[in-house]
Amino acid sequence: MYSTLLTALENGTLIITINRPDKLNALNKDVIEDLGKILEDVYTNNEIKGVILTGAGEKAFVAGADITEFGGIGAVGGAELAQKGADLVFNKIEKCPKPVLAAVNGFALGGGCELAMACHFRIASENAKFGQPEVNLGLIPGYGGTQRLTQLIGKGKAMELLMTADMIGAAEAKDLGLVNHVYPLAELLVKAKEVLAKIQSKAPIAISHIITCVNEAAAAEKNGFINEIKYFGACFATEDMVEGTTAFLEKRKAIFKGK
Ligand code: COA
Repeated sequence: MYSTLLTALENGTLIITINRPDKLNALNKDVIEDLGKILEDVYTNNEIKGVILTGAGEKAFVAGADITEFGGIGAVGGAELAQKGADLVFNKIEKCPKPVLAAVNGFALGGGCELAMACHFRIASENAKFGQPEVNLGLIPGYGGTQRLTQLIGKGKAMELLMTADMIGAAEAKDLGLVNHVYPLAELLVKAKEVLAKIQSKAPIAISHIITCVNEAAAAEKNGFINEIKYFGACFATEDMVEGTTAFLEKRKAIFKGK
């Protein structure tokens, strides 16, 4: 039913596995659309009480938006890409009335880190790695990364990670509060199911109100998200973005000119 997702419903928990392991589960248009569709089902299907989001394989959760789809889309196309992701997936996950847990099983970079951060909370395997490497491509995050990273780990550390593009391991992510728990990879899904089973034993309406209220407490300036989409789009009109994405696809280091 979904070309890019594997799904399994176990005791009310829907396990959604993003399934493009040969491309490190990068978020292309099809993944965004499939996630959008399945989230509609999560909202309306009474058999689904909670969701675990993870990635296929042992290497990546999601290694970012699919860079091969960035070519020639321009400023308007860039902003549209970001807005579509926000509407179909990222904001839908954040506002989902049922708990959505990210089980981060490897690289969570760029859009992958943003996807994990849109979830209500995160657990990770020991091999997980987090980062927002968009500046390497002449870009900024477009799926809420500047906002949610700042909410989760604070302004100073968010500034550093966003500007350096440094990757951090699971232990540091836990120290920073980006993930709540770290487990050996083989135990990750077992632990994810355990915590969702615990949450599902509580009153569902109360849980949905907790999600709403905690989201409101953590809400950044609304303009932060709107501006991020605008500036993400603006990056697509720069020569540096063309150089950054081309260099990645050609497997070489980018040379930026500030144009
Ligand atoms: N978009 C498109 N393709 C991607 C991708 C992405 N974000 N991330 C990885 N891939 C592809 C690679 O191009 C490669 O494809 P190929 O086998 O056809 O050449 C495949 O996935 C495996 O990745 P590879 O780079 O060979 O693995 P690695 O172990 O050497 O490096 C990473 C792993 C995660 C460090 C590296 O893939 C990377 O830097 N990815 C991009 C991360 C990023 O910038 N994300 C933000 C996007 S906004």
